[in-house]
Amino acid sequence: MKHYPVMLPEILDALAMRAGEICVDGTFGNGGYSQAIMESADCTVIGLDRDPNVAPRAGELSDQFAGRFRLIQTPFSKMDEVGLEPVDAVVLDIGVSSMQLDEAERGFSFMREGPLDMRMAQGGGPTARDAVLHLSAAELTRVFQVYGEEKRARHVANCIVSARDQGDIITTTDLADILEKALGRRGKTHPATRSFQALRIFVNDELGELYRGLCAAERLLKPDGRLVVVTFHSLEDRIVKTFFRRRAGEVQGGSRYVPEVANEGPSASFTLPRRSVTKPSKSEIEENARSRSAKMRVAIRTGAEAFIADDRLLPDVVSLSELEARL
Ligand SMILES: C[S@@+](CC[C@H](N)C(=O)[O-])C[C@H]1O[C@@H](n2cnc3c(N)ncnc32)[C@H](O)[C@@H]1O
Repeated sequence: MKHYPVMLPEILDALAMRAGEICVDGTFGNGGYSQAIMESADCTVIGLDRDPNVAPRAGELSDQFAGRFRLIQTPFSKMDEVGLEPVDAVVLDIGVSSMQLDEAERGFSFMREGPLDMRMAQGGGPTARDAVLHLSAAELTRVFQVYGEEKRARHVANCIVSARDQGDIITTTDLADILEKALGRRGKTHPATRSFQALRIFVNDELGELYRGLCAAERLLKPDGRLVVVTFHSLEDRIVKTFFRRRAGEVQGGSRYVPEVANEGPSASFTLPRRSVTKPSKSEIEENARSRSAKMRVAIRTGAEAFIADDRLLPDVVSLSELEARL
């Protein structure tokens, strides 16, 4: 299935690329943004993605826009560690692509039987199966509660723990069946929806990546550089909103103070445009239902030094590295 780029006109407007400028597309996916950005101005795009499957599509863009495009396979949280010069714009379109959801063997979808994997990078680190087999009931409860906003998180976690005591949980449908038994079928949404989303966010450390990605963009952007972020989940939007407001000096918090200037906060590293959050148009939502929960936020880099990163913006949930250490 093709991935429809969300809020594309709004993205192009916010990026406002000019000839000769460089943009990092931190979530390359199907290259919808990258292609449109290069069509909008005679600029260069550096695409990043942690999924190696995007390489063929990236190859097409390298051919079509010779010398103006390249792909780096890396998590976007490391965009300032891959040898790039300071850039004029960074865009992030958080989440999974339609292609990833569609491939049964990736294990993202409860509708398609496949291994319970869910790793966007397709290697390294624990899988969703590792999480359901090795997290405690209390840890699973937090994962479902926080990342899935699942009201019956404790019940779901207990059902998984008793199911795993009776036998292995191997495939997406094994887990979907457990969740369906636990929650029953009510309403239009499949009972596995929230828990699958929660596991995907956990397995890919999506909130940690988002926060560290924002900090990396702050370090990589030139003065006047544009940072444009699209999210689909209220937790993600809260991280972006809080990050922007702190960096713009609108709210205090985090480690805004370097020790040597204890009583003097650093200058704002971003300014926020008057309209800093935008939602998709009604017609876009009608055409592409996936866009309905999207929110786009924009901030403009100042010339001030980047703040010191501080993970306290993140919710208190067992970390992926804690699970990894157990395996
Ligand atoms: C929603 S899709 C992006 C679609 C893209 N804007 C387009 O127009 O085709 C998200 C993509 O970002 C990638 N991704 C998600 N989190 C990432 C991260 N932390 N680092 C690098 N890539 C990531 C996923 O693998 C996926 O391909």
